[in-house]
Amino acid sequence: MKDIFGKAILDYYNGNYTEDIVTSTNISDEDVLPLPYLFREYKDMPNLEKKALELAKGSVLDTGCGTGSHSLYLEKRGLSVKAIDISKGAIDVANQRGVKNAQLLNFIDETEPFDTILLLMNGTGIFQTLAQSPYFLNHLKTLLNPGGQILLDSSDIQYMYETDDGGMWIDINSDYYGELDYTIKYKGMESTLPWLYLDFDNLRYACKLVGLKCELVLEGEHFDYLARITV
Ligand SMILES: C[S@@+](CC[C@H](N)C(=O)[O-])C[C@H]1O[C@@H](n2cnc3c(N)ncnc32)[C@H](O)[C@@H]1O
Repeated sequence: MKDIFGKAILDYYNGNYTEDIVTSTNISDEDVLPLPYLFREYKDMPNLEKKALELAKGSVLDTGCGTGSHSLYLEKRGLSVKAIDISKGAIDVANQRGVKNAQLLNFIDETEPFDTILLLMNGTGIFQTLAQSPYFLNHLKTLLNPGGQILLDSSDIQYMYETDDGGMWIDINSDYYGELDYTIKYKGMESTLPWLYLDFDNLRYACKLVGLKCELVLEGEHFDYLARITV
């Protein structure tokens, strides 16, 4: 698999920052993902992430850690953190930034138990489809210590289907509207992957199917939210 995300992160970290990642989806035009955002400090994080970091306790799994910004903050607070990602470039940089335990690992292959599992910056993305969500949530459930919690953020992207006259152009015969094909472009490279934005009600329902409780902790400014999931 091409590690475009990791290549961009490595370039930024090594002082070769000449362009940002350009993202697009099957329902939206190109947008810029500034590389510095992937290295954000606590003060530049959205409130939903700040709240998740405040609620984190005990041993923490930072799932899809990217450059390790959340892990570094929690380590400074004295928490024990394992940071995992499938991007080799991201894990190399997380290690170089000083994350104590950053490993190249797909979360589905994780087996250790934790008190807190973080999935931040649209954490449901890695479930890829609504139908697969209960399966992945059930796996995360097996990784929770007694009293443990999953903290994840996502968005209800129904607004992206609004028409000028206030209607919607969602095809009710097609897949769930939050299932997108997400394309990233960087320095002439391009890759597309399935990425899921999950509204809170569907997340809560998927949790219920596998015996998990899901509470809304905080709503963001633009249809985004932070959820806390427990057994
Ligand atoms: C949107 S980025 C978020 C990065 C970081 N959490 C942040 O907030 O800056 C999603 C991350 O999840 C990683 N990822 C995707 N699928 C994964 C999987 N199955 N297991 C572990 N990490 C995964 C990607 O490589 C990427 O670094």
